[in-house]
Amino acid sequence: MSAVKRIWFLVLLFSSLYTYTFAQEIRFDQQSRVFRIDGGNVTYAFGINDENALQPLYWGGRLGANDHVGPAHTNRGHASFDLPSGSTPQEFEGWGAGLFYQPALKITFPDGNRDLVLHYVSHHIDGDNLTIQLKDISRNVTVDLKYTIDPNTGVLGRSAVITNKTTTPLLIEQAAAASWSLPHATDYWLYYLTGRWAGETNVQHEPVRPGTRLIESRRGSTGHQNNPWFAIERGNSGDQDSGDVWFGALAWSGSWRITVEQDTMQNVRITGGYNPFDFGYKLAPNEQLETPVFYGGFSQHGIGGASRLLHQFEISKILPEGPKPRPRPVLYNSWEATEFNVTEQGQEELAEKAAKIGVERFVMDDGWFGQRKDDHAGLGDWYVNKEKFPNGLKPLIDKVHSLGMDFGLWVEPEMVNPNSDLYRKHPDWVLNFEGRPRTEGRNQLVLNLARQDVRDYVFGFLDKLLTENDIAFLKWDYNRNWSEPGWPAVAPDEQKKVYVKYVDNLYSILKELREKHPKVEIESCSGGGGRVDLGILRYTDEVWTSDNTDPFDRLTIQDGFTYAYTPGVMMAWVTESPAGPNHSPRSLDYRFLSSMQGSLGIGSNLNHWSDADFATAKHLIAEYKEIRETVQHGALYRLISPENGSEQSATESVSADHSQAAVFAFLHSSQFGYPYPRLFLHGLDRDAQYQLHWITEKPGGNLPESASGAYWMGHGVDLHLDGDFQATAFRLEKAR
Ligand code: DGJ
Repeated sequence: MSAVKRIWFLVLLFSSLYTYTFAQEIRFDQQSRVFRIDGGNVTYAFGINDENALQPLYWGGRLGANDHVGPAHTNRGHASFDLPSGSTPQEFEGWGAGLFYQPALKITFPDGNRDLVLHYVSHHIDGDNLTIQLKDISRNVTVDLKYTIDPNTGVLGRSAVITNKTTTPLLIEQAAAASWSLPHATDYWLYYLTGRWAGETNVQHEPVRPGTRLIESRRGSTGHQNNPWFAIERGNSGDQDSGDVWFGALAWSGSWRITVEQDTMQNVRITGGYNPFDFGYKLAPNEQLETPVFYGGFSQHGIGGASRLLHQFEISKILPEGPKPRPRPVLYNSWEATEFNVTEQGQEELAEKAAKIGVERFVMDDGWFGQRKDDHAGLGDWYVNKEKFPNGLKPLIDKVHSLGMDFGLWVEPEMVNPNSDLYRKHPDWVLNFEGRPRTEGRNQLVLNLARQDVRDYVFGFLDKLLTENDIAFLKWDYNRNWSEPGWPAVAPDEQKKVYVKYVDNLYSILKELREKHPKVEIESCSGGGGRVDLGILRYTDEVWTSDNTDPFDRLTIQDGFTYAYTPGVMMAWVTESPAGPNHSPRSLDYRFLSSMQGSLGIGSNLNHWSDADFATAKHLIAEYKEIRETVQHGALYRLISPENGSEQSATESVSADHSQAAVFAFLHSSQFGYPYPRLFLHGLDRDAQYQLHWITEKPGGNLPESASGAYWMGHGVDLHLDGDFQATAFRLEKAR
């Protein structure tokens, strides 16, 4: 190559690299004053309007690279009753200028002024991050809006940093992370999750109507009752895998609120952040408050596609070990077998039995510490109970290791029983209002983690526990919600900061523990699924889905769970039968198949098992290990939903490379001898050949031993299931 050619070649190479880096995901068009964010199959755009306010313009499927949206123009409303502040959707609206809808931010200044109008000041783009500064029109209060985009899934992350640049303190009465605006339409349908203890993640589905649907927790933590997630479909396709769906999840484990509002102009917006109920954050001069992140995404493949995108996003961007989290080990947990009655000998006997069936992690639950005989005493006293473990935990841990398993331990760090040494020494460490009764729940009170001394104590004992013992896993429990959420040790106008500081300290403890003990994995448990959200999942590897381990109830709970969360974090144990809230007998196969749809655990009392039970368990655990990567991290298709009293339910999980699919099918009860509906599979390579392997005994019926992806998806699968509480499962393996 001649010298000239070489130079020319280098110029071309660099200019192509330059164009490549320039084709970044976030752009600002100077002329139209429009921001455009692209990622995955999604475009999100908003502009600076003629009033200098930030106005949403578009959120949906990815637009052509040269398509323009905007510019943004203030909407003047249609009557004197609809002022421009309310009729012009904004990205992040202050309460001011006569806003009647949910503001993103509401502030009271010391002079009584409560008007806040936020205008664009400047912006900064840095790779996948955009920061825009807004400022009130006269007061020196700024809001830095942060946007991130995940290039693969198109999931956006939004949050706000509020800074007091005035010379006096101000009071934040309401602060959202973001407001999401949908395109103008009147046929939106909302999905959200409700529940209660032992009955979490029930899917609700209803039209978005004029007015506000409020989903929230006022409990100090995420709560079983609502989960900080929503999805909204345009129309009501009734089909899992078609239709436009917008969705969002708030990364916050404290009191939170999401409102879904259709205003008088038929604009639909979703606003989420700290729950304004009892909220009040005093911001001193130069102090900042950074809100949690509200994630939002869009799918053109229905609610099923929305869940799959969110699962992928959680695995790659939220989970502490992402983007390639280790598969969850099959665990054994002692709780349902022994409750508080744990002893060294009893645990070792269970461990021996668990190891024989292929369990990889042995977890000792509640009862091992302080004076813990039942739930009346011991919480707060995190020393090993010498009566139960005369030589500490080491002999048990060594035994578990010698059996080829790692060891996990239950803790409930944020709680204290009044009957404990800790409480006797530090009665002021709990949330309380001075001179008022301290309402107990499960005979316990909540330690005020917002206090630095409490934070240090909690970190200290956990750090010591993990330093002195070879512990691979903590089950971090939290068994009540707040009452009397006072913080008498600080000035009255600082006390409500507890709603923020508590959770910030919780996160900081988890973060620091993980940094110091990088091999330790953590489960978020709150009497089951009371603390499941994208905030806690940044620091925890899995969650306890529900204290309800009835395998039939679990089908509904688990189905709802997967609308918002990846099945890889969804712990599901095989427990005793009959047991659970319904005391209903179920076969061991049925119990296993229900649990194998998530991350498998065993919680049965193995001392009650027959040889046949051990053989079944050993076989099914081995089968689970064949499919767990697919179940935990693959693409989930809900083939038949168990909701609304359905007689059947079925799921399919497909591995990322489409080489494996795992199918689970359940029948509640046959009626009139109708056949099981044909299952049409998804996500396979049409032209590839897939071999069928039964996970449980082959049910009746004629299924080919091998067929193309086109066959499994197009022709479908007829399963011969009849009777009550029947279940079957198979996997398909792509021929090599
Ligand atoms: C509630 C949890 O959800 C259970 O699994 C168990 O760990 C108990 N707490 C122990 O007290």
